[in-house]
Amino acid sequence: MAIREILEAPDPRLKVVSEPVTRFDDELKTLVEDMFETMYDAPGIGLAAIQVGVPLRVLVIDLQPEDPDAEPEPCNHDGHHHHHQPTKREPRVFINPEILDPSDEHSVYQEGCLSVPEIYAEVERPARIRARWQDLDGNTHEEEMDGLMATCLQHEMDHLEGILFIDHLSRLKRNMALKKLEKLRKAA
Ligand code: NI
Repeated sequence: MAIREILEAPDPRLKVVSEPVTRFDDELKTLVEDMFETMYDAPGIGLAAIQVGVPLRVLVIDLQPEDPDAEPEPCNHDGHHHHHQPTKREPRVFINPEILDPSDEHSVYQEGCLSVPEIYAEVERPARIRARWQDLDGNTHEEEMDGLMATCLQHEMDHLEGILFIDHLSRLKRNMALKKLEKLRKAA
């Protein structure tokens, strides 16, 4: 496994429309492993393949990443440390995902993106969706989603069309976000 470089806006590769996966092979498994390692390292809760420069319709999501700031457990009496129990990981892979039946009802979440670091903004999206996707073996799955999972999947699926969450904002807000990003990058 390897941590890959995450592309950041306004990198033109983030505007590319990703291609469907047709080969469910070892190369795909390696890509997905690297994407999880990259996402957990960042840390983030979702990552699309194009964010590491691979224009394939592959997403990874884990709404419960390990908390790096969690308090360690205190020592017990015989001097050994209890190991902190990390938050249970729930890694999910979505290959060639589709959205069916988006609800008319919308919900608003404060979104962020590993490709638009340190910028957060409220985005409105359908509150409930039915998702269809393939797993690493090419098997098809379908599931109703709501809440953060529905929002996160829609955010990640936007990446497959070359769309960033800031593209949902007004031109004024988007330009402000991009200027702030440029400033942060110069300061770094
Ligand atoms: Ni994103």
